[in-house]
Amino acid sequence: MPPVPPNLIGAHGKGETMRLFANHVSSGKARFYQDAGIDFVLGRREGPYLWDLDGEKRLIDCHCNGGVFNLGHRNPEIIRALQDSLQELDIGNHHLASEQRAALAEKLAQLTPGQMPYTVFGVSGGEAIDLAIKLARGFTHRPKIVSARGGYHGHTGLSLAAGDEKYYAPFGPPAPGFERVPFGDLAALEQVLDDSTAAVLFETIPATDGITVPPAGFFQGVRRLCDQRGALLIVDEVQAGLGRTGRLWGIAQHDVEPDILVTGKGLSGGIYPITATCFRQPIETVFHPDPFIHISTFGGAEVGCPVALKVLEISSNPDFLTHVNMLAAQFQAGFEQLKASHPQILVGLRQCGMMMGIELADARLGPLFTRAAYECGFLSIYANNNPSVAQLLPPLTIDRALAAEILQRVDQALHVVERFL
Ligand SMILES: Cc1ncc(COP(=O)(O)O)c(C=O)c1O
Repeated sequence: MPPVPPNLIGAHGKGETMRLFANHVSSGKARFYQDAGIDFVLGRREGPYLWDLDGEKRLIDCHCNGGVFNLGHRNPEIIRALQDSLQELDIGNHHLASEQRAALAEKLAQLTPGQMPYTVFGVSGGEAIDLAIKLARGFTHRPKIVSARGGYHGHTGLSLAAGDEKYYAPFGPPAPGFERVPFGDLAALEQVLDDSTAAVLFETIPATDGITVPPAGFFQGVRRLCDQRGALLIVDEVQAGLGRTGRLWGIAQHDVEPDILVTGKGLSGGIYPITATCFRQPIETVFHPDPFIHISTFGGAEVGCPVALKVLEISSNPDFLTHVNMLAAQFQAGFEQLKASHPQILVGLRQCGMMMGIELADARLGPLFTRAAYECGFLSIYANNNPSVAQLLPPLTIDRALAAEILQRVDQALHVVERFL
């Protein structure tokens, strides 16, 4: 007999859930959803779909938590990997040598660009970026970190300091040693790089900044400037990695080898949180004086390692990547048509593979589009650091028919936005 589901979803009902959420999780968020007309509490989820807790409203997930659900919700292969893992494993002990972490790190060493034989695992992307910054400083013995204005790397200590001021300003003095430059501007980068620069930290495609696709040759220029100044290049692939761009890693589009690569979100398979900071061999010497200088109790929890291995196996499959590129071409063609029918509000599609941002005519329109998308049955969230762009990040596992349906719904949402104006 199949196991009886425990009925975790819906046990409280929607009204009661909102009351509990407002009283015990976040009154501000509860008010925001109400004011924005987003009367949705996440209930059942399967493949590309999310259902409201009361079961009536269904959304196509075109946000995917920034790539957490690259492989869809509750992907059966991923669930099976976790179920198998639960037969034998638990979190493990972070002080001890680990068969599971070793096997996953070896896989990452095989798949990351260039030579990155070492990986340290974490739980969140912010934590993994923090470690990348610690490694760069520990290795170079220099303090300065240069990142992109409008970039986003998380809300932990060092990653927070690498982001925009609005996120750290309410919380007292930020960690020192950070400078920001406009993304895509090599001349500006050259000006701030000096002999005190430990690393340049960029998302391969800044997502919170509105899916900013860098100009051709940009990352090659960044690599060259880093080499000239003796600074390391850290790429944040937390959103752009794991097949989203049509290649396993976004940086592979640029034929550039970073010194440190950070991945997260999708590595979880949407099921078990895990992130990874992967790096070149010489950087590992940072840990030689004290290999326990950086620890994370839950980072690389053993039970989650087989899940991440399964994600890597699926995402690096050439057939999977061909599918992603086929979908990307369909969206590109679809948006050419949409541009012709909505010339007043639709500027175009910012796109690298299935990493897509709908560029609208001005900053009022992103929030309006998010609301219209919700009414039209899909979740698309505007970019927090550039509200003229709505992120369009459906699962990479959708078929052509659903891609066509998403394009139709985008068309409807654009009509709704036009009516709001
Ligand atoms: C590019 C990028 N880096 C890092 C992070 C931080 O990840 P986490 O929220 O898991 O700390 C995010 C989260 O959205 C992100 O988009």
